[in-house]
Amino acid sequence: MPRAPEVKVRLNPLLEKLRRGPQVTLPKDIGLIIGFTGIGREGLAVDAGTGSGFLAISLANICRRVVTYEWREDFVKLARANIERSGLANIELKHADVFGGIDESEVDLITLDLAEPEKALPHVARALKGGGFVAAYLPHAEQVSRFVEAVRGSGEFEEPFTLESIVREYLVRKEGFRPENKGITHTGYLAFARRKMR
Ligand SMILES: C[S@@+](CC[C@H](N)C(=O)[O-])C[C@H]1O[C@@H](n2cnc3c(N)ncnc32)[C@H](O)[C@@H]1O
Repeated sequence: MPRAPEVKVRLNPLLEKLRRGPQVTLPKDIGLIIGFTGIGREGLAVDAGTGSGFLAISLANICRRVVTYEWREDFVKLARANIERSGLANIELKHADVFGGIDESEVDLITLDLAEPEKALPHVARALKGGGFVAAYLPHAEQVSRFVEAVRGSGEFEEPFTLESIVREYLVRKEGFRPENKGITHTGYLAFARRKMR
């Protein structure tokens, strides 16, 4: 049987240097996180779980400092090698369970790319500075509902909002301009919440 053509995954020069292990956060979703939180060069970000480190490294490329938590030793090794490949020196990788606690305080942004992010919420609320953001990246709508309910129930955050980035690539050819037949149709939803001012 003829093999179906593979879907093109567009990265960027920084991410092209890295190796992929578990499902990575892609540029379209990284763009939403940066764009809607305004995290920048003075910012401290905490990220969990690290996975291949794509999101942590992308944040470190624009932030003052990133601390990223990963509980699996094999992914810690992979991410450590990717951090080296990135050439960035402002990322700290912790081999730790984020559900057990977040050591940092006065954090500007916490990203949670893992199942059941609500389990980290009490630690997130303690670690974020007033006005800081949490962004949970979730493939399923049911996970978003559970997370958003937990955010509302905590009373520690402003009203959350949830976004999805739908990106289509186009063929631009002599015979016509049209969308590609294949593409990445779904990655995940991004649920954002802002820590109330203390
Ligand atoms: C989908 S991957 C994250 C990919 C990452 N955002 C990237 O761009 O490469 C999810 C990771 O979360 C880790 N993880 C899940 N629960 C965790 C926890 N409680 N503490 C730390 N890491 C966790 C998993 O081992 C896995 O490596």
